[in-house]
Amino acid sequence: MARPQKRYVCQACGGVSQRWAGQCTDCAEWNTIVEEAAAVVTPFAARHDLRAGGRPVTLVGLSDDIPLPERIATGIAELDRAIGGGFVPGSATLIGGDPGIGKSTLLLQAAAKLAVAGRRVAYLSGEEAADQVRLRAQRLGLGAAPVLLGAATSVRDILAALSQGSAPAMIVIDSIQTMHSDVIEGAPGTVSQVRASAQELIRYAKEEGAALVLVGHVTKDGSIAGPRVLEHMVDTVLSFEGERGHQYRVLRAIKNRFGGTDEIGVFAMAEKGLEEVANPSSLFLTSRGEGVAGAIVFPALEGTRPLLVEIQALTVRLASGATPRRAVVGWDSGRLAMVLAVLEARCGLSFSTAEVYLNVAGGYRISDPAADLAVAAALVSALAERPVAADAIAFGELALSGELRPVAHANLRLKEAAKLGFGKALVPKPVEEKGALSLQRFATLGGLVDHLLGR
Ligand code: TYD
Ligand code: MG
Repeated sequence: MARPQKRYVCQACGGVSQRWAGQCTDCAEWNTIVEEAAAVVTPFAARHDLRAGGRPVTLVGLSDDIPLPERIATGIAELDRAIGGGFVPGSATLIGGDPGIGKSTLLLQAAAKLAVAGRRVAYLSGEEAADQVRLRAQRLGLGAAPVLLGAATSVRDILAALSQGSAPAMIVIDSIQTMHSDVIEGAPGTVSQVRASAQELIRYAKEEGAALVLVGHVTKDGSIAGPRVLEHMVDTVLSFEGERGHQYRVLRAIKNRFGGTDEIGVFAMAEKGLEEVANPSSLFLTSRGEGVAGAIVFPALEGTRPLLVEIQALTVRLASGATPRRAVVGWDSGRLAMVLAVLEARCGLSFSTAEVYLNVAGGYRISDPAADLAVAAALVSALAERPVAADAIAFGELALSGELRPVAHANLRLKEAAKLGFGKALVPKPVEEKGALSLQRFATLGGLVDHLLGR
């Protein structure tokens, strides 16, 4: 047999090259290229036409009645909501998130809840010793749950253990980067090891109809460590996010073959693990009194779920000609620059000699373009030191021309604000009057500025 050739695989993008290099030519990442053995073509495969010798698979129509297995709802409503109603038997789910964000805690709580409900659930930890996991479970008050707990990193050992007795309904692997398959060489955590380990576990889960949940590490830039390939292999990718130092956590589906990706689950990290937050707006609204300049509430939308957050702006006049700072927490700095430019060019307000700080309260991160108008209102209010009415919310998208554009689901946003006791809304002109809030409608940003400045 020919000696297997060496090849070099980028651990970030999976690109293959013939020789080692410091930087990947495909994705331009540094120090990600690792030597791997090339795939060996078996003599059987080389000799045979692929059209012969296989067992024909059954091909079915789209309309054929094939009953889908019932979802496994964990009973943690926020988790079930994010995954579209529960884990699907025979599916694989990948959950990524920064270290310490609470992935292990969340999955331990879900596993315990399912075990108490009478399901067979296996929790395999490659990161913590069994005693450590047990201790945590006891601290969370879950010590009595009949979870099948194991500390192992060898996929072969794990599958051997799972094959004793009936297959579990749910299997948690914490984490996939610690798993090792002896089918191929390489250290745990490399692309080929992660891929091979995941492949074997997924095959087992599909065959046995178990819901497999893989914990994945996240790299500095926020993608799930090592291979993108992992995201392609699984059915659902979840991301568990939150700001360090804040207690709230958001579970978000990035990919879901069995449901939508627009729902989120909101949790708060507390003494006794993760608590569900059924009304997230209460978490992000700081206690609001009258008369603070630069603050306004924005009704953000997460999927179909409105979420009220406070946007705070602060401007500080600079005496000398120093370059003023722009600092943003929880929003896009490019968008802030755009809003500032439109305020300068279309409304005649000058921020060029002022430092600008923008903050979204509670550590929440806004990705909704509808925040433009609220940010502009906060900036104008801060610059003029004139508070916006405390019971006002604002939303709308800003065009470079200074025109205000309507945004998706205006009614949902207005309804949520009315429910929480807000009285008025600053909105783009096309939004129609409906419901309890009194609307102040503006066609352009100039109109809003005049209103805020009392002109
Ligand atoms: P963990 O689930 O270990 O995070 P991950 O698996 O994502 O790395 O969460 C650990 C953090 O959560 C740790 O910093 C402490 C905090 N925590 C609490 O605040 N309360 C609790 O009840 C638990 C179990 C953890
Ligand atoms: Mg962990």
